[in-house]
Amino acid sequence: MTCVSRRNLLCAMGGAVVGGFMGIGPLSAALPEMQGQATWTAHSLDADECEPYAYAGYWNQGYGCCYGTFYSIVGVMGLKHGAPYNQFPFHIMEVGKSGISDWGTICGALLGAASAMALFWGRKERDPMVTDLFRWYEQTAFPLYDPGQDAQGVQGEIPGHACGSVLCHVSVSSWSFATGIPAASKTRSERCARITADVARKAIEIMNAKIGGRFAPVYGKPESLTYCGECHDKEKEAPFLKGRQECTPCHSGTEHTQNKFTGHP
Ligand code: HEC
Ligand code: HEC
Repeated sequence: MTCVSRRNLLCAMGGAVVGGFMGIGPLSAALPEMQGQATWTAHSLDADECEPYAYAGYWNQGYGCCYGTFYSIVGVMGLKHGAPYNQFPFHIMEVGKSGISDWGTICGALLGAASAMALFWGRKERDPMVTDLFRWYEQTAFPLYDPGQDAQGVQGEIPGHACGSVLCHVSVSSWSFATGIPAASKTRSERCARITADVARKAIEIMNAKIGGRFAPVYGKPESLTYCGECHDKEKEAPFLKGRQECTPCHSGTEHTQNKFTGHP
Protein backbone atom coordinates (compact mmCIF):
# COMPACT_ATOMS: atom_id res chain seq x y z
CA MET A 1 0.00 0.00 0.00
CA THR A 2 1.39 3.41 -0.90
CA CYS A 3 0.59 6.44 1.18
CA VAL A 4 1.45 9.57 -0.71
CA SER A 5 -0.60 12.44 0.63
CA ARG A 6 -1.10 13.74 4.14
CA ARG A 7 -4.67 12.57 3.90
CA ASN A 8 -3.42 9.07 3.25
CA LEU A 9 -1.22 9.15 6.32
CA LEU A 10 -3.94 7.20 8.07
CA CYS A 11 -3.43 4.27 5.76
CA ALA A 12 0.15 4.02 6.94
CA MET A 13 -0.94 3.78 10.56
CA GLY A 14 -4.08 1.75 10.14
CA GLY A 15 -3.27 -0.23 7.01
CA ALA A 16 -4.53 -3.50 8.44
CA VAL A 17 -8.00 -2.23 9.24
CA VAL A 18 -8.50 0.08 6.28
CA GLY A 19 -9.42 -2.86 4.09
CA GLY A 20 -12.42 -3.69 6.23
CA PHE A 21 -13.62 -0.20 7.09
CA MET A 22 -14.33 2.97 5.17
CA GLY A 23 -11.90 4.81 7.46
CA ILE A 24 -10.53 4.72 10.95
CA GLY A 25 -11.96 7.96 12.30
CA PRO A 26 -10.24 11.02 13.64
CA LEU A 27 -6.55 10.88 14.43
CA SER A 28 -7.12 11.77 18.10
CA ALA A 29 -9.29 8.69 18.51
CA ALA A 30 -6.79 6.53 16.66
CA LEU A 31 -4.03 7.54 19.07
CA PRO A 32 -5.61 7.37 22.54
CA GLU A 33 -3.77 8.40 25.67
CA MET A 34 -2.03 5.56 27.51
CA GLN A 35 -5.24 3.54 27.68
CA GLY A 36 -3.45 0.29 28.44
CA GLN A 37 -2.23 1.22 31.87
CA ALA A 38 -5.78 1.82 33.05
CA THR A 39 -6.85 -1.72 32.25
CA TRP A 40 -3.71 -3.66 33.24
CA THR A 41 -3.12 -4.00 36.96
CA ALA A 42 0.21 -5.28 38.26
CA HIS A 43 0.23 -8.17 40.71
CA SER A 44 3.13 -9.05 42.99
CA LEU A 45 5.09 -12.10 41.93
CA ASP A 46 7.46 -14.53 43.60
CA ALA A 47 10.86 -14.09 41.96
CA ASP A 48 11.93 -17.62 42.97
CA GLU A 49 8.92 -18.96 41.10
CA CYS A 50 9.30 -16.73 38.03
CA GLU A 51 13.03 -17.08 37.46
CA PRO A 52 12.80 -20.61 36.01
CA TYR A 53 10.09 -19.38 33.59
CA ALA A 54 12.45 -16.69 32.35
CA TYR A 55 15.19 -19.24 31.85
CA ALA A 56 12.91 -21.76 30.13
CA GLY A 57 11.24 -18.97 28.14
CA TYR A 58 14.61 -18.11 26.62
CA TRP A 59 14.88 -21.63 25.20
CA ASN A 60 11.20 -21.99 24.30
CA GLN A 61 11.20 -22.31 20.48
CA GLY A 62 14.30 -20.13 20.45
CA TYR A 63 12.21 -17.11 21.42
CA GLY A 64 15.08 -15.72 23.43
CA CYS A 65 15.80 -13.23 26.16
CA CYS A 66 13.17 -10.53 25.61
CA TYR A 67 10.36 -13.06 25.46
CA GLY A 68 11.86 -14.82 28.49
CA THR A 69 11.78 -11.87 30.87
CA PHE A 70 8.42 -10.66 29.59
CA TYR A 71 6.82 -14.07 29.89
CA SER A 72 8.23 -14.64 33.38
CA ILE A 73 6.35 -11.52 34.47
CA VAL A 74 3.19 -11.10 32.38
CA GLY A 75 2.93 -14.79 31.44
CA VAL A 76 3.15 -15.89 35.06
CA MET A 77 0.52 -13.29 36.00
CA GLY A 78 -1.63 -14.96 33.34
CA LEU A 79 -1.04 -18.41 34.85
CA LYS A 80 -2.16 -17.05 38.22
CA HIS A 81 -4.80 -14.50 37.32
CA GLY A 82 -6.02 -15.40 33.82
CA ALA A 83 -7.20 -12.55 31.60
CA PRO A 84 -6.12 -10.09 30.41
CA TYR A 85 -2.54 -11.24 31.11
CA ASN A 86 -2.88 -14.62 29.42
CA GLN A 87 -4.30 -13.00 26.28
CA PHE A 88 -1.18 -11.03 25.48
CA PRO A 89 0.38 -12.07 22.13
CA PHE A 90 3.63 -13.06 23.83
CA HIS A 91 5.35 -14.15 20.63
CA ILE A 92 5.82 -10.52 19.58
CA MET A 93 8.47 -10.20 22.27
CA GLU A 94 10.74 -12.45 20.23
CA VAL A 95 11.70 -9.32 18.28
CA GLY A 96 14.03 -8.33 21.12
CA LYS A 97 16.14 -11.44 20.77
CA SER A 98 19.87 -10.71 20.32
CA GLY A 99 19.41 -6.99 20.71
CA ILE A 100 16.42 -6.73 18.31
CA SER A 101 16.54 -8.99 15.28
CA ASP A 102 20.20 -9.88 15.86
CA TRP A 103 21.39 -6.25 15.81
CA GLY A 104 23.02 -6.29 19.22
CA THR A 105 21.38 -3.05 20.33
CA ILE A 106 19.57 -3.07 23.69
CA CYS A 107 19.88 -6.33 25.68
CA GLY A 108 16.58 -8.07 24.96
CA ALA A 109 16.20 -9.25 28.54
CA LEU A 110 16.08 -5.58 29.56
CA LEU A 111 13.69 -4.71 26.75
CA GLY A 112 11.33 -7.49 27.86
CA ALA A 113 11.43 -6.37 31.49
CA ALA A 114 10.98 -2.68 30.65
CA SER A 115 8.09 -3.60 28.33
CA ALA A 116 6.40 -5.55 31.12
CA MET A 117 6.74 -2.52 33.40
CA ALA A 118 5.29 -0.36 30.63
CA LEU A 119 2.11 -2.44 30.61
CA PHE A 120 1.37 -1.15 34.10
CA TRP A 121 3.12 2.17 34.63
CA GLY A 122 3.37 5.28 32.54
CA ARG A 123 6.62 6.99 31.72
CA LYS A 124 6.88 9.15 34.82
CA GLU A 125 6.58 6.29 37.27
CA ARG A 126 8.32 3.75 35.07
CA ASP A 127 11.50 5.64 34.18
CA PRO A 128 13.05 5.44 37.67
CA MET A 129 12.22 1.72 37.79
CA VAL A 130 13.78 1.07 34.39
CA THR A 131 16.78 3.22 35.30
CA ASP A 132 17.45 1.24 38.46
CA LEU A 133 17.19 -2.03 36.55
CA PHE A 134 19.54 -0.80 33.82
CA ARG A 135 22.14 0.61 36.26
CA TRP A 136 22.14 -2.67 38.14
CA TYR A 137 22.69 -4.44 34.81
CA GLU A 138 25.62 -2.18 33.88
CA GLN A 139 27.39 -3.03 37.12
CA THR A 140 26.62 -6.71 37.71
CA ALA A 141 28.99 -9.55 36.84
CA PHE A 142 26.62 -11.95 35.05
CA PRO A 143 25.38 -14.63 35.08
CA LEU A 144 24.20 -15.31 38.65
CA TYR A 145 21.39 -17.84 38.11
CA ASP A 146 22.30 -21.52 37.91
CA PRO A 147 19.56 -23.87 36.67
CA GLY A 148 21.51 -26.93 37.89
CA GLN A 149 20.17 -30.17 36.42
CA ASP A 150 17.55 -28.24 34.43
CA ALA A 151 20.18 -26.54 32.27
CA GLN A 152 19.08 -26.65 28.64
CA GLY A 153 22.31 -25.45 27.05
CA VAL A 154 25.36 -26.24 29.19
CA GLN A 155 25.47 -27.41 32.80
CA GLY A 156 27.81 -26.09 35.46
CA GLU A 157 29.32 -22.73 36.24
CA ILE A 158 29.53 -20.05 33.56
CA PRO A 159 32.22 -17.38 34.09
CA GLY A 160 30.85 -13.94 34.91
CA HIS A 161 31.85 -10.53 33.64
CA ALA A 162 30.57 -7.00 34.35
CA CYS A 163 30.55 -5.16 31.04
CA GLY A 164 29.31 -1.70 32.00
CA SER A 165 26.75 -1.55 29.22
CA VAL A 166 23.09 -2.29 28.57
CA LEU A 167 23.84 -3.03 24.93
CA CYS A 168 23.70 -6.64 23.75
CA HIS A 169 26.77 -6.13 21.59
CA VAL A 170 28.96 -4.78 24.39
CA SER A 171 27.54 -7.23 26.92
CA VAL A 172 28.15 -10.32 24.80
CA SER A 173 31.34 -9.30 23.01
CA SER A 174 33.21 -8.03 26.07
CA TRP A 175 32.19 -11.16 27.99
CA SER A 176 33.31 -13.30 25.07
CA PHE A 177 36.68 -11.52 24.90
CA ALA A 178 37.18 -11.60 28.67
CA THR A 179 36.39 -15.31 28.96
CA GLY A 180 37.69 -16.57 25.62
CA ILE A 181 34.32 -18.25 24.92
CA PRO A 182 33.01 -17.65 21.37
CA ALA A 183 30.01 -15.31 21.03
CA ALA A 184 28.32 -17.90 18.80
CA SER A 185 28.47 -20.90 21.14
CA LYS A 186 26.17 -22.98 23.29
CA THR A 187 27.90 -21.64 26.39
CA ARG A 188 27.14 -18.07 25.35
CA SER A 189 23.48 -18.97 24.79
CA GLU A 190 23.45 -20.55 28.23
CA ARG A 191 24.95 -17.37 29.66
CA CYS A 192 22.20 -15.26 28.09
CA ALA A 193 19.47 -17.68 29.24
CA ARG A 194 20.76 -17.31 32.80
CA ILE A 195 20.99 -13.53 32.48
CA THR A 196 17.37 -13.60 31.33
CA ALA A 197 16.54 -15.19 34.71
CA ASP A 198 18.72 -12.66 36.56
CA VAL A 199 17.02 -9.70 34.88
CA ALA A 200 13.57 -11.18 35.54
CA ARG A 201 14.39 -11.55 39.24
CA LYS A 202 15.64 -7.98 39.54
CA ALA A 203 12.69 -6.57 37.57
CA ILE A 204 10.23 -8.48 39.77
CA GLU A 205 11.93 -7.17 42.93
CA ILE A 206 11.57 -3.64 41.60
CA MET A 207 7.94 -4.20 40.56
CA ASN A 208 7.01 -5.79 43.89
CA ALA A 209 8.53 -2.82 45.72
CA LYS A 210 6.59 -0.45 43.48
CA ILE A 211 3.32 -2.30 44.05
CA GLY A 212 3.95 -2.25 47.80
CA GLY A 213 4.69 1.48 47.76
CA ARG A 214 8.28 0.74 48.83
CA PHE A 215 10.18 1.44 45.62
CA ALA A 216 13.17 3.72 46.09
CA PRO A 217 15.95 3.88 43.48
CA VAL A 218 19.16 2.27 44.71
CA TYR A 219 21.58 3.47 42.06
CA GLY A 220 22.63 7.08 41.69
CA LYS A 221 24.12 8.71 38.61
CA PRO A 222 27.48 7.22 37.67
CA GLU A 223 30.44 9.58 37.92
CA SER A 224 30.85 9.74 34.16
CA LEU A 225 27.33 11.06 33.68
CA THR A 226 27.80 13.74 36.30
CA TYR A 227 31.21 14.74 34.99
CA CYS A 228 30.51 14.63 31.23
CA GLY A 229 27.04 16.03 31.81
CA GLU A 230 28.49 19.25 33.22
CA CYS A 231 29.14 20.33 29.63
CA HIS A 232 27.12 17.91 27.47
CA ASP A 233 23.68 17.84 29.13
CA LYS A 234 20.85 19.97 27.83
CA GLU A 235 21.37 23.71 28.06
CA LYS A 236 25.09 23.23 28.79
CA GLU A 237 27.95 24.52 26.61
CA ALA A 238 28.15 21.47 24.32
CA PRO A 239 24.60 20.05 24.58
CA PHE A 240 25.00 16.98 22.35
CA LEU A 241 24.23 14.25 24.86
CA LYS A 242 21.35 11.85 24.34
CA GLY A 243 20.68 9.08 26.84
CA ARG A 244 21.74 7.94 30.28
CA GLN A 245 24.16 5.14 29.50
CA GLU A 246 27.45 4.90 31.35
CA CYS A 247 29.91 6.76 29.05
CA THR A 248 33.12 4.89 29.87
CA PRO A 249 32.84 1.76 27.69
CA CYS A 250 32.81 3.91 24.56
CA HIS A 251 34.54 7.19 25.44
CA SER A 252 37.36 6.34 27.84
CA GLY A 253 39.89 5.61 25.11
CA THR A 254 40.62 2.05 26.18
CA GLU A 255 42.64 -0.14 23.88
CA HIS A 256 39.39 -1.87 23.00
CA THR A 257 37.83 1.25 21.52
CA GLN A 258 40.84 2.54 19.58
CA ASN A 259 40.91 2.53 15.78
CA LYS A 260 41.04 -1.06 14.53
CA PHE A 261 41.06 -0.22 10.82
CA THR A 262 44.75 0.56 10.68
CA GLY A 263 47.66 -1.30 12.25
CA HIS A 264 45.40 -4.06 13.53
CA PRO A 265 45.73 -6.68 14.90
C1 HEC B 1 34.35 21.19 30.68
C2 HEC B 1 33.36 20.85 29.70
C3 HEC B 1 33.37 19.45 29.13
C4 HEC B 1 33.40 18.25 29.81
C5 HEC B 1 33.44 18.03 31.32
C6 HEC B 1 33.32 17.24 28.81
N1 HEC B 1 33.25 17.77 27.58
FE1 HEC B 1 33.15 16.79 25.83
N2 HEC B 1 33.27 18.52 24.81
C7 HEC B 1 33.25 19.77 25.38
C8 HEC B 1 33.32 20.76 24.35
C9 HEC B 1 33.29 22.25 24.56
C10 HEC B 1 33.41 20.05 23.13
C11 HEC B 1 33.63 20.62 21.74
C12 HEC B 1 32.33 20.98 21.13
C13 HEC B 1 32.50 21.50 19.70
O1 HEC B 1 33.52 21.25 19.09
O2 HEC B 1 31.57 22.17 19.28
C14 HEC B 1 33.37 18.65 23.46
C15 HEC B 1 33.39 17.63 22.54
C16 HEC B 1 33.20 16.30 22.84
C17 HEC B 1 33.13 15.24 21.86
C18 HEC B 1 33.29 15.39 20.35
C19 HEC B 1 34.67 15.83 19.95
C20 HEC B 1 35.73 14.88 20.41
O3 HEC B 1 36.68 15.37 21.03
O4 HEC B 1 35.62 13.67 20.20
C21 HEC B 1 32.91 14.09 22.55
C22 HEC B 1 32.79 12.70 21.97
C23 HEC B 1 32.86 14.43 23.95
N3 HEC B 1 33.03 15.78 24.09
C24 HEC B 1 32.64 13.51 24.96
C25 HEC B 1 32.81 13.83 26.29
C26 HEC B 1 32.76 12.83 27.33
C27 HEC B 1 32.51 11.35 27.13
C28 HEC B 1 32.97 13.50 28.49
C29 HEC B 1 33.13 12.87 29.86
C30 HEC B 1 34.22 11.93 30.00
C31 HEC B 1 33.12 14.90 28.17
N4 HEC B 1 33.01 15.04 26.83
C32 HEC B 1 33.32 15.88 29.12
C33 HEC B 1 33.18 20.05 26.72
C34 HEC B 1 33.27 19.14 27.73
C1 HEC C 1 27.77 2.47 23.32
C2 HEC C 1 28.80 3.45 23.07
C3 HEC C 1 28.58 4.85 23.59
C4 HEC C 1 28.18 5.24 24.84
C5 HEC C 1 27.79 4.38 26.01
C6 HEC C 1 28.20 6.68 24.85
N1 HEC C 1 28.60 7.14 23.63
FE1 HEC C 1 28.80 9.07 23.09
N2 HEC C 1 29.02 8.49 21.18
C7 HEC C 1 29.28 7.20 20.74
C8 HEC C 1 29.47 7.20 19.31
C9 HEC C 1 29.78 5.98 18.46
C10 HEC C 1 29.35 8.54 18.89
C11 HEC C 1 29.49 9.11 17.49
C12 HEC C 1 30.96 9.38 17.24
C13 HEC C 1 31.20 10.04 15.90
O1 HEC C 1 30.55 11.06 15.60
O2 HEC C 1 32.05 9.54 15.18
C14 HEC C 1 29.07 9.32 20.11
C15 HEC C 1 28.91 10.69 20.12
C16 HEC C 1 28.95 11.48 21.27
C17 HEC C 1 29.01 12.93 21.30
C18 HEC C 1 28.95 13.86 20.09
C19 HEC C 1 30.28 14.16 19.54
C20 HEC C 1 30.77 13.19 18.52
O3 HEC C 1 31.93 12.79 18.64
O4 HEC C 1 30.03 12.83 17.60
C21 HEC C 1 29.10 13.30 22.62
C22 HEC C 1 29.26 14.71 23.17
C23 HEC C 1 29.04 12.08 23.38
N3 HEC C 1 28.94 11.01 22.54
C24 HEC C 1 29.09 12.02 24.75
C25 HEC C 1 28.74 10.90 25.48
C26 HEC C 1 28.52 10.89 26.91
C27 HEC C 1 28.68 12.11 27.80
C28 HEC C 1 28.15 9.63 27.23
C29 HEC C 1 27.74 9.12 28.59
C30 HEC C 1 26.63 9.81 29.19
C31 HEC C 1 28.17 8.84 26.02
N4 HEC C 1 28.52 9.65 24.98
C32 HEC C 1 27.90 7.47 25.96
C33 HEC C 1 29.29 6.09 21.53
C34 HEC C 1 28.85 6.04 22.83
